Amino acid sequence: MYPVEHIHPIFDRILDRSQKERLLQQRAVVVWLVGLSGSGKSTIAQALEKRLHAEGYLTQLLDGDNLRSGINGDLGFSEADRQENLRRTAEIARLFLHCGIITLCSFISPTREARQKTREIIGEADLLEVYVKCSFAECARRDVKGLYVKALRGEIKNFTGLDAPFEEPEAPWLLLDTEAASEAQCVEQLYQHLIHRIHPQ
Ligand code: PPS
Repeated sequence: MYPVEHIHPIFDRILDRSQKERLLQQRAVVVWLVGLSGSGKSTIAQALEKRLHAEGYLTQLLDGDNLRSGINGDLGFSEADRQENLRRTAEIARLFLHCGIITLCSFISPTREARQKTREIIGEADLLEVYVKCSFAECARRDVKGLYVKALRGEIKNFTGLDAPFEEPEAPWLLLDTEAASEAQCVEQLYQHLIHRIHPQ
C-alpha cells in the first residue's frame, strides 16, 4: 500500500504539520497559561521553555511583553482590546503550532468568552489550558511590577481583579497554585504533565 501522498498530486505540494513535527522530533501543542498579573505565569513559562530547550525541544514563548510591545502595540486594556489581543495571539499561536513548534502563551486571559474564542481558533485538542492560581491579595503583596500599588491608588484604570473582571477557569487542563507550591515545583508539575504530549510517538 502506497502512502496517500503518492496517490494524489495535491499531497506533493502541501507540507503538513506532521512532516514538520517529524523533522523536529516532537509533537506540537499550545500551552496557554491563564492568571492574574503577577501570579507567576511568565516566570513558569520562561523556566519551562529553558528546560524544554535544554532537552532539544523547539519552543516559542508568547506573552504580553513580546506581543503588546509589537504587533498588539495598538491595544489597551478595555474588554474589547483584551479580546482582540487574545484573538491575534491565538492566531499567531496557531501558526507556530502548525509549524510543529511547542508554543507557550502567557496572558491574563480574564474572561471565559475570550478563552473560548482562543480555543476555537487553536482547536480544542491542541490547547492545554493551565490556570496559574494566585489570589489578588497575594499578587498585590508581591507587586512585582509596582502596578498593584498604582491600581489601588486609582492611577490605573481597568485593572484586572480590581475594576476589570477576572473569571477563574472552571476546568483547566492543569491548575498550578503558586501560593501553595514553589516556582520550581510548579515548573516540575507542568513539565511532567506535558512531556507525554510532546514526546514523539
Ligand atoms: S490580557 O487581559 O490577557 O489581554 O492581558 P495581557 O496581554 O496578559 O497583559 C497583562 C500585562 O499588562 C500589564 N498591565 C495590566 N494588567 C492588567 N490590567 C491592566 N489594566 C494592566 N495594565 C498593564 C501587566 O503588567 C500584565 O503583566 P503580567 O505579565 O500578567 O503580570
